[in-house]
Amino acid sequence: MNEEHGTASTETAAKTTTATATLAAPPPAPLTEACVVVIFGASGDLARRKLVPALYNLAGVDAAQGNFKILGVGRTEMSDEEFKKQMHDAVAEAKDTEGFAEEQWREFAARLNYMVGDPNDDGVHEELAARLDELKREGAGTNYLFYLSTPPSVAPSIIKGLGAAGLASEAKGWRRIIIEKPFGRDLQSARELNSTVAEVFKEHQVYRIDHYLGKETVQNILVFRFGNTLFEPVWNRNYVDFVEITAAETVGVEGRAAYYEEAGALRDMVANHLLQLLTLTAMEPPVAYDAESVREEKVQVLRSIRSMTPDQVAERSVRARYDAGTVDGQTVPAYAAEPGVKRDSQIETYAAVEFRIENWRWAGVPFYVRTGKRLARRMTEVAVHFKRTPQALFARTPKDEIEPNVVVLRIQPDEGIGVHVGAKLPGMEMKTSVVKMDFRYESTFGVRSPAAYETLLRDVMEGDATLFTRADETEAEWRLITPIEEAWAREGAPPLSVYAAGGEGPEAADQMLARRGNSWRKIAR
Ligand code: BG6
Repeated sequence: MNEEHGTASTETAAKTTTATATLAAPPPAPLTEACVVVIFGASGDLARRKLVPALYNLAGVDAAQGNFKILGVGRTEMSDEEFKKQMHDAVAEAKDTEGFAEEQWREFAARLNYMVGDPNDDGVHEELAARLDELKREGAGTNYLFYLSTPPSVAPSIIKGLGAAGLASEAKGWRRIIIEKPFGRDLQSARELNSTVAEVFKEHQVYRIDHYLGKETVQNILVFRFGNTLFEPVWNRNYVDFVEITAAETVGVEGRAAYYEEAGALRDMVANHLLQLLTLTAMEPPVAYDAESVREEKVQVLRSIRSMTPDQVAERSVRARYDAGTVDGQTVPAYAAEPGVKRDSQIETYAAVEFRIENWRWAGVPFYVRTGKRLARRMTEVAVHFKRTPQALFARTPKDEIEPNVVVLRIQPDEGIGVHVGAKLPGMEMKTSVVKMDFRYESTFGVRSPAAYETLLRDVMEGDATLFTRADETEAEWRLITPIEEAWAREGAPPLSVYAAGGEGPEAADQMLARRGNSWRKIAR
């Protein structure tokens, strides 16, 4: 067994030695089409923490073009200048910016505009159209990107309002809309939202965002699988024993209890990010790397998973909530004691589910996914566990058997890929161990990867929907999630388990895998 499974082993890191300079990607081509990015919910958390910093970075890359302006729309009363001040502080504090420079900020600030507006008010979209005309007279582009960084309940009125104000019509330039997650809260509401969107926008104008798809290492799953001949022949039920997908976080609800109390870990992470990782790991090779071909194959994976009956949900899922504990050396309170959490809350902060993909490639191979807040370490990865060799040639006792191969696609942090293989230990005797061949993004390429939102915003500006979720894909995701939510809400459903903050998660999740003789990789180092 190797260290990550908890028993002693000698692990050797066979690091890549390629010179970094030759591997650095060329800078991206400048954006050529001028546009205005309209952010609904501009005074909100996402805009401050992610969207505006991502646009700041993009503006840095494309400064020579000066080709996009930003119009924030929010309920908070403030002037353009106050908005700029808020965004200045937000960008300066953001984790994803490479470095903040006042000079670059001044160039960027000239792009920022703000408009007070409640999306539910009559006439607000006409006002928006007038403000966009004004920006045009000042030299802004006539292509518009509408970003809905608002709670799902507000989305329909914005979409309808944009339609009524003529802002969805592409007669005078492109019109694109980005819709943030959560895309609905169950199958029914996702269908309703899709049909509201379809009344106003054509599918080619719609970008349903899942920021995990913008992560460099998530896209690399496709390159790893379909850019090499080495792995694809064994990427199936004949060789793979089981697949494990983990998104562990150390953060708690981060002041978002109002949202989280309505969502929980299953809706917040599994229904989108983790199912996206699953589809990319399991999909067939697409005929081309374009939006239609890639998304078609992803939907096929989701369609190959049967939705579960309540009995299957009881057997193949675990929900739990964190208790007080210690994370990164800090004492943290229990979820139930977080501000804004209801006393009798039944919301899960941890979810583990076993999905079964009933197709020719994957029948019989469990895909275990788990996610949780306040776990031992921040770590997102896909681990593909291969079967044991048919013969234990080098082992005198079962204990000496070489552990099966594992390919670990590390999404974050420490982005890279590890391949665990058996090797002979140096010495006269025939003793073996597991060694790890390791590729690390940072040491190999030596450059900062763009933040997910940066990649995705740029893709939308260029009209590339490959990394966005198609309408039927969102519904296929909810078709799997809603029966789990419903089964959990039934009388007599297995109770919510508890885990100590800072740990590996609930015991029930270990037991779920133990039934098949499998175990999760350790989260703590
Ligand atoms: C968001 C969830 O979509 O993803 C958050 O709403 C979660 O609860 C976050 O913390 C995790 O994203 P990342 O990029 O930090 O892994």
